[in-house]
Amino acid sequence: MDARPIGIFDSGAGGLTVLHECLVTLPHEDFLYLGDGARCPYGPRPHAEIRRFAHEIASYLEQEGVKLIVAACNAATSAALPALQEALAVPIVGVLVPEAHAAVQATRNRRIGLLATEATVASGRYEEVVHALDAGARVVAVPCPKLVPLIEAGDVGEELDAAVREYASPLREEGVDTVILGCTHYPIIRRVFERAFGRGTTLVYSADETAREVAETLARKRVENDPDRDGSSRFLTTGSPEEFRTLGERFLQLPIPQVEQVSVRELELAAA
Ligand code: DGL
Repeated sequence: MDARPIGIFDSGAGGLTVLHECLVTLPHEDFLYLGDGARCPYGPRPHAEIRRFAHEIASYLEQEGVKLIVAACNAATSAALPALQEALAVPIVGVLVPEAHAAVQATRNRRIGLLATEATVASGRYEEVVHALDAGARVVAVPCPKLVPLIEAGDVGEELDAAVREYASPLREEGVDTVILGCTHYPIIRRVFERAFGRGTTLVYSADETAREVAETLARKRVENDPDRDGSSRFLTTGSPEEFRTLGERFLQLPIPQVEQVSVRELELAAA
């Protein structure tokens, strides 16, 4: 039995879609969520900068005493996961491998689409992991710079719909039968993707696949909490707590009674 919380982080509120799935799968665990609202979005930033931010946050969470960290951000996972795993003692689960694995299992024509931020697409990590599992599978990747800012702004109108259709179009032309939605912000607009791709395409989301990976990791390492208890969650942001709470409740689909602010300086000090 291990009563320590699980740390989860993202550039903003997107990782709450992963937390939501974790809460459903692991209702007896405690969670500490950190959204880096002050520096969101990560997608347009260089990999070295994303690596630095991810290292600061993971160091902070480690010092808060978490037993496992979930990098609930595809951009941070793509740019930083190996470096984080080398630098820190606590186990770190990313969102990329579980999703790539699910896509390889799901595809029948071995043509897989990827929609993600610029940083994630530029890293080429999905191609590497997919090819490690099936060297004959093809990945068609499209960067989607408009989506995270529109989602964080709470926009679900025509502009978002048009952007999704624009990004989906090259994947439809290539005849992919499975699409990896490689950004933890995307499940919140699940319906928009479903309409753009139709019934014939399997959509793979990081939130569902990662929650499964977290549950298996805790079980295999034997660091689960008491299954008969009710878990709790704490929320931290580097941005505005009020904005995080409003947007966060939409992502999590649960009430967020309190959000604490942590400064970027505190994160920098944790990694110093
Ligand atoms: N949720 C992050 C991801 O999964 C968003 C990236 C961003 O901040 O641009 O990639």
